[in-house]
Amino acid sequence: MSQAPKEQPSYPGKQESRREFLKQSSALMALALTPPLVVKAGENDEAIAGVFEKIPVSLDINGKAYHLSVEPRVTLLDLLREQLALTGTKKGCDHGQCGACTVHVNGQRINSCLTLAVMQEGKQITTIEGLAQGDTLHPMQEAFIKHDGFQCGYCTPGQIMSAVACIREGHAGSPDEIREFMSGNICRCGAYDNIVDAVMEVKKGGHTV
Ligand code: FES
Ligand code: FES
Repeated sequence: MSQAPKEQPSYPGKQESRREFLKQSSALMALALTPPLVVKAGENDEAIAGVFEKIPVSLDINGKAYHLSVEPRVTLLDLLREQLALTGTKKGCDHGQCGACTVHVNGQRINSCLTLAVMQEGKQITTIEGLAQGDTLHPMQEAFIKHDGFQCGYCTPGQIMSAVACIREGHAGSPDEIREFMSGNICRCGAYDNIVDAVMEVKKGGHTV
């Protein structure tokens, strides 16, 4: 004759701790399976949010005062092109290697892709849009047209800004010197000879640049 199964004694305390143990194990397992980058990103959420907070910045661009709110990661180039629609300044490499983005900051030529907009607080920026006086072109713009200093024209604004600075710096004494001091401006069309001719003419003409 088969015996009725013995009633199992009930241990409420033990049941509870077993359930608790399973819960904790599942949580640990889930954590173990979470990719480390996700965990890291979670930890850094606050820091990341801080980076994207906008910062007020005041700039003088082409003689006009701008009071702007800018994310700290935004380059001067992107601010000009994306936020202010000053698209005369071109983005070539975005890595400081082609010179297409050359602008003047406080009279000095710089690659605007290599500097953050918020670093220019209070400075005077001149872009290709600010070079002409109304309908009167700058002598360097005139010379580029006269000497056919461009083909596709993509590098041209950067070349012109650099050429003006090159003369102001006193580095346009000869074609060789011009080539040396304009070497950061790359023209994929190879308009170099005509660019040098244009710069030489402006230099020799004694124009105020
Ligand atoms: S876009 Fe700035 S150097 Fe090329
Ligand atoms: S004119 Fe085309 S890249 Fe210079």
